[in-house]
Amino acid sequence: MSTKGWSASVAEVDLAAIRYNLKRVRRCVGRKKVLAVVKANAYGHGNIEVARCLTEMGVAMLGVAYLEEGLALREAGLKSPILILTGISSGQVPEVVRYRLTPTLFDRTMLAALNRYAKRYKKRVDIHIKIDTGMGRLGLTPEDALAFVHEAMDLEGIRVEGILTHFADADLADLSFAEKQLEKMRVVWECLRRKGLRIPYCHIANSAAIMHYPKSPFNLVRPGLMLYGYSPLQGETALQLQPAMQLKTRVISIKKVPSGVPISYGRTFVTKRESLIATLSLGYADGYPRLLSNRGVMIAKGRRVPVVGRVCMDMTMIDATEVSGLAAGDWVTAIGSEGKEAIWADELARLTDTIPYEILCGIGDRIPRRYLNAMV
Ligand SMILES: Cc1ncc(COP(=O)(O)O)c(C=O)c1O
Repeated sequence: MSTKGWSASVAEVDLAAIRYNLKRVRRCVGRKKVLAVVKANAYGHGNIEVARCLTEMGVAMLGVAYLEEGLALREAGLKSPILILTGISSGQVPEVVRYRLTPTLFDRTMLAALNRYAKRYKKRVDIHIKIDTGMGRLGLTPEDALAFVHEAMDLEGIRVEGILTHFADADLADLSFAEKQLEKMRVVWECLRRKGLRIPYCHIANSAAIMHYPKSPFNLVRPGLMLYGYSPLQGETALQLQPAMQLKTRVISIKKVPSGVPISYGRTFVTKRESLIATLSLGYADGYPRLLSNRGVMIAKGRRVPVVGRVCMDMTMIDATEVSGLAAGDWVTAIGSEGKEAIWADELARLTDTIPYEILCGIGDRIPRRYLNAMV
């Protein structure tokens, strides 16, 4: 995107923060390998640059949701193993093989199709097998998993590189269900080992489980949110992660209005005093949630200021009456810190009754990403 030196809003991504957060993950899990989850445009941070940064740091694998996300990384020249977490369709088999992507499999039709194609081209495709231990989403039952692994291991075109499952609620304080899931997976893993079936990886841990079960008996972890600087757990964690992305937007116009003036669609806010209202070039089409209408907070010239009126598609208004010297063209922080003030995605998530994941992933393509602190 050409911004001709001017951009209306920008997302600044600090790659040093991502490297730091990866080190925190490693400090938790010791020698376990890391599969860095970079799906959904690396949770809004930009898949290519983030994947490059993480591979430079030596992560074992990258995790994407869909084939297309894997292809984009290959096209950008990334050579590391890439796991497609949500499975593939039969029409995608040729590209999986050609671009050396690793699919997650959980049904026999796909296993057979992949094996046929791989054999025809004298290739061996790595797969990971998904087991549903309680998420109720993708995967074989633990009972069926052993037979499936056996069948897959007998196929000439297939190499079983891993088995995985996913936690439903490892972010809760009550870990009783998570522990049942952990136990089911441990049983499958033990069973495979007892039968002498050697599979390189067994993985289960998302960020919440990395925090709760750093010593789990498995050898690969799959952090997403932690890498971007947020904890999925409620309340403080001792980990001190660093949020990697700041979202800044510009003042398009600022005007003094008398008391009694309605602001934005629906006239849901009416000034109660003479006010300075700044109109910013950020809206719900950029991922700034409309639910922040009359609820959001931003930072202008180091001061927290309220969002007033409804958030529009491309613009949002703030009450800048208490801010001195704010002018058209100035930057305002929607997510990030200025001086002593900070507003991070978890605060916006609380204000909109959602999770930081949704705030981060929602930051739109219209916002250019600017990368700071790339390794040289
Ligand atoms: C299968 C799978 N593994 C790992 C992750 C990473 O989870 P988190 O971002 O909570 O670390 C996700 C995220 O949704 C996922 O779907």
